[in-house]
Amino acid sequence: MTGERPHPAGPAEPAAVTLVIPTFNESANVRELLRRIAESVPARLPCEVLFVDDSTDDTPAVIADAARDCPFPVTALHRESPDGGLGGAVVAGLAAATADWVVVMDGDLQHPPHLVPELVATGERTGAELVVASRYLPGGSRAGLAGGYRVAVSRAATWLAKGLFPRALKSVSDPMSGFFAIRRSAVADAVTGDELKPLGYKILLELAVRCRPETVAEAPFVFQDRYAGESKSTAREGMRFLRHLVELRTAAPLARMVAFGLIGLTGFVPNLAALWALTAAGLHYLPAEVAANQFGVAWNFLLIEVLLFRDRRRHRHFADRAGRFALLANADLVVRIPLIALFVGQLHLTVLPATALALLTTFVLRFAGTEALVYLP
Ligand code: GDD
Ligand code: MN
Repeated sequence: MTGERPHPAGPAEPAAVTLVIPTFNESANVRELLRRIAESVPARLPCEVLFVDDSTDDTPAVIADAARDCPFPVTALHRESPDGGLGGAVVAGLAAATADWVVVMDGDLQHPPHLVPELVATGERTGAELVVASRYLPGGSRAGLAGGYRVAVSRAATWLAKGLFPRALKSVSDPMSGFFAIRRSAVADAVTGDELKPLGYKILLELAVRCRPETVAEAPFVFQDRYAGESKSTAREGMRFLRHLVELRTAAPLARMVAFGLIGLTGFVPNLAALWALTAAGLHYLPAEVAANQFGVAWNFLLIEVLLFRDRRRHRHFADRAGRFALLANADLVVRIPLIALFVGQLHLTVLPATALALLTTFVLRFAGTEALVYLP
């Protein structure tokens, strides 16, 4: 990562707020954005601007040029690899911010800069650690959300997130908002401890769920039309959002074990389908059972890779992880029958409870083994 500070002379007063602005090919917007920030923020609140840029166009050059006329420091941080997308950029910005307050806003002017001092003032007045600019409060609106389709998607996403995280999002009416103020002290530990795992657009959700800011306030805002260019959000971003929800919901070990079990249950579908196909092709049912089982194992492996252990894959190579997972899954089958015999013989259980207990035991062992032997914590 490289940083540059095109504006060498800082303000006399230290900045009270760092504006963290993620940019991906926003060269047609950044000049006007800085102009509007200059017009409405520094007179009310000493500020600095920190762009976190993943652009492939000339945005960095435009920033450097526009920054010369700015009455506040402007820094551009260029990321060499755009890890985590928009959310990853914001976390990099949180790590580099210096003021007590950080305001996160988009680089396309959909978030009105003149609200920045008001968001911080609301936080100061209420003592809140997080102030969300919400489209769903009286006085707010989502005027700039182009088309009924995006409105419906945004509504469904909000409803889903609030359903999955009722406590963390209790006082957040707009968890999908990308415009908010947060006290740096509320996120500092999570940032330095590498606890944030942003995945795509919904960085507010990530911070609200993982950092649990003590009190949350909100202020209404009108989501404007984009100044220039087009949204960078794609269908892929929708898939990332669903993965992000699963990851946040399964952060606790017990929740991860339940998810592991549910994924395991879905593995019956490819398993039975393969069994049907192989026996239909004339294979004897016993070798077919063993082969079909591998389809279920592969299915489960791919799902847990993507949904449960994304941030723990780097410790081993793909083939190593796949081999270990397959070994554990097949050991499960081998161990189950002797275990049932043990439970019947030693614990004097009848066959059904013994089988249930054996299934449960091997399941817990397989989960623990997957955590410890496939994906080192
Ligand atoms: N650094 C970086 N890296 N910036 C990015 C990336 C990335 O991979 N992807 C997008 N951005 C920047 C854009 O350049 C823009 O400044 C800002 O993030 C928002 O991106 P848009 O593409 O304009 O997003 P949107 O308008 O569709 O969505 C916005 O509104 C939603 C509410 O409907 C965002 O604020 C969402 O977070 C928000 O949920
Ligand atoms: Mn936008």
